[in-house]
Amino acid sequence: MSGKLQPTPEFLEWEANFMPVCVNDLIPYCERRLKPAFWEHIRDGAMDGETNRNNVDVYKKIRIRPRVLRDVSNIDTTVKFFGHTFASPIGLSPTGSVQMCHPEGEKVFARTVAKMNQAYMCSTATTVSLEDVAAEARGVPDYPFAKTAHIPNLFFQLYVFGDKKVTEALVKRAEREGYTAMVVTVDTPRLGRRLTLIRRPGELGKRVWANFETKDSDPTKFANKGGNLGLSSNFSDTLNWDSDIKWLRSITKLPIVLKGIMSGEDAELAIKAGVDGIYVSNHGGRQLDTIPATLEVLPEIARVAKGKIPIMFDGGVRKGTDVFKALALGADYVFIGRPALYGLTWNGEEGIEQVLNWLNEELRLAMVLAGTTSIKDISKAFVRHESEYWKL
Ligand SMILES: Cc1cc2nc3c(=O)[nH]c(=O)nc-3n(C[C@H](O)[C@H](O)[C@H](O)COP(=O)(O)O)c2cc1C
Repeated sequence: MSGKLQPTPEFLEWEANFMPVCVNDLIPYCERRLKPAFWEHIRDGAMDGETNRNNVDVYKKIRIRPRVLRDVSNIDTTVKFFGHTFASPIGLSPTGSVQMCHPEGEKVFARTVAKMNQAYMCSTATTVSLEDVAAEARGVPDYPFAKTAHIPNLFFQLYVFGDKKVTEALVKRAEREGYTAMVVTVDTPRLGRRLTLIRRPGELGKRVWANFETKDSDPTKFANKGGNLGLSSNFSDTLNWDSDIKWLRSITKLPIVLKGIMSGEDAELAIKAGVDGIYVSNHGGRQLDTIPATLEVLPEIARVAKGKIPIMFDGGVRKGTDVFKALALGADYVFIGRPALYGLTWNGEEGIEQVLNWLNEELRLAMVLAGTTSIKDISKAFVRHESEYWKL
């Protein structure tokens, strides 16, 4: 299911001089390297892509307010999250279909986060089974969690299916493999209107559902028919607080995180429902177009949830300063979706490591130059909306 084009002599000549130094530099590479259907599938949001664009552009409206003379010689980017101390507050969002970017697919993500002590959320819609993803992290040389019951660097992203047996089988398998938490995507009772999938039926290949091809997945035989659109038609569109979130709570002891919370009201309901984390996300603008950018809703969610349960966040993060701004506005842990796929397309394992290294370094430098030495000290005091500077 490779999404890559056969390299032409022109491309190889261009590639020989390609020297990226930040995430956005990778975009022209992916545009040239991937088949159009795959590139558009990764790049685009739903419909006109307004939310997708705003997710990225909104960071320009926030200014960092630097403070000086604060001895920034010792920067600590570690962050404690679900009982584990991670090297930095930057992780990899769940993305399906990763083999379109690299033949080893999601395995590369698992190895990278285990090596770098960061977090990865393995999707339900992977091209490698969740068992193989977990084995890959455990297999990293000297990995301290090679044999422990659970793997702190791996979370499992769950889509809830109409058939509860299908959902339960996934939950049990993820538990057995040692995933840290169950991240339930709640913004996808149906797939958003993604025009590439509609315009180019069949061009993306069908093998996006490795989790349904294992010996443990008998009840899910339906799953591997029809690629993205086919499988998502089996998602539960009756998804609700009572019969689904309560039910999930009753079948697993793992922490439950809800991915796709975009309002203070739902954050409040999530806390009432007893979940263990909130994940502010609009699915990279791929579900309902014209909803707000994630950074725009973060303050209202932080007002309700900050300090009560952990707040995860993704959407449009491309630079260390974006991470800094999200942390300042209330996120506890920030994730990247597309940038990880760009890195993987460009240079496999080294590519994704490089993406994380860039972001970690950019965050570290933002902390130095803004005058703060630890993640917990990055607060609202360090940011202002641009409009505040024009109240003359
Ligand atoms: C190609 C692609 C596949 C995705 N697959 C999933 C998925 O399987 N499950 C899910 O919850 N979110 C999925 N997402 C959404 C991401 O988890 C994440 O919310 C989003 O990409 C973050 O925005 P960013 O790409 O601007 O960083 C996907 C996003 C992309 C681009």
